[in-house]
Amino acid sequence: MTRVLVTGSAGFIGSHVVEALEAHGHEVTGLDLRSGADVRDAALLARLLPGTDVVVHQAAKVGLGVDVADLPDYASINVYGTAVLLAAMAAHDVERLVLASSMVVYGEGAYDCARHGRVRPGPRSAEDMARGSFEPRCPRCGDEMALATIGEDAPTDPRNAYATTKLAQEHLAANWARETGGTAVALRYHNVYGPRMPRDTPYSGVAAIFRSALEAGRAPRVFEDGGQTRDFVHVRDVAEANVAALTGGAPGTLAVYNIASGEPHTVGELAAALAAQRGGQEPVTTGEYRMGDVRHIVAAPHRAEAELGFRARVGFAEGMKEFATAPPA
Ligand code: UD1
Repeated sequence: MTRVLVTGSAGFIGSHVVEALEAHGHEVTGLDLRSGADVRDAALLARLLPGTDVVVHQAAKVGLGVDVADLPDYASINVYGTAVLLAAMAAHDVERLVLASSMVVYGEGAYDCARHGRVRPGPRSAEDMARGSFEPRCPRCGDEMALATIGEDAPTDPRNAYATTKLAQEHLAANWARETGGTAVALRYHNVYGPRMPRDTPYSGVAAIFRSALEAGRAPRVFEDGGQTRDFVHVRDVAEANVAALTGGAPGTLAVYNIASGEPHTVGELAAALAAQRGGQEPVTTGEYRMGDVRHIVAAPHRAEAELGFRARVGFAEGMKEFATAPPA
């Protein structure tokens, strides 16, 4: 039995993490802004942390960020909040951290160019997007490329406020581990979906947006040409990954893992699967685009399996069937 403090315990992912930890017989204390408990409150942490074995840090401001007015909140909640937490862990001899990180730290996925090998393209140009040329081209020769899976050692390329703060959290966790000899494990979640996923907001992921559209009798609007690839991983699998991470990593280091289903799908396939399961309007492919979006990001999930013994169990068809009609938060 391990004594675990879960931050963000009332959130979509955090609430599933609490359930999974308890199902595995661990003793859980929760902290969540929804009940007025702020991870930036050092006095609160001083009360909660003594006797804690592991902190599982899920509390964060999520989503892409609507505009630069969001920057102070992202920095305060995600970066400053993690700094306060790590300082309090050091003060109270808590030696293990599991951090909710994200695949957004990578930016665009990895590709193989027939002539130039493995490449990581930068942001797509406004001109290409406007003429519906959505596939990234080789940054060296402009040729088409084959999609490859991204491993944890790939260079990071955060492209928005949220991604930047998730990477900052990883760096702070690595600092803390080095300075204190603590063990830090960062889980880079891919596109998490499942029961209690928040309804459609400007900060929601695409699965929630599509589901909310169907619920309201509207057609899901598939951007670009629908060929964007993501790895949709079920929230119960993500919760199990957190349980597995309680015993992973090594003292003095930050270990990093992709947490993914290993079964990538396109955004068009996501829309079709949800529409088929829920009924309602057929998806429409609109050709709209968002400049901040990456085209494909497909994870190599093998390190988590080899080192944490974690493997996603919920398949796409089964997970989407449940999600299509599950009650939201
Ligand atoms: C999402 C999250 C990100 C999180 C990551 C991993 C958001 C906004 N993004 O990134 O914070 O870290 O998953 O869990 O929460 N799309 C449509 N129609 C729509 C909306 C989106 O076709 O109505 C498309 C987008 O163009 C994009 C894809 O769906 O190609 C995924 O979008 P989204 O879920 O917003 O963002 P991710 O970049 O995957």
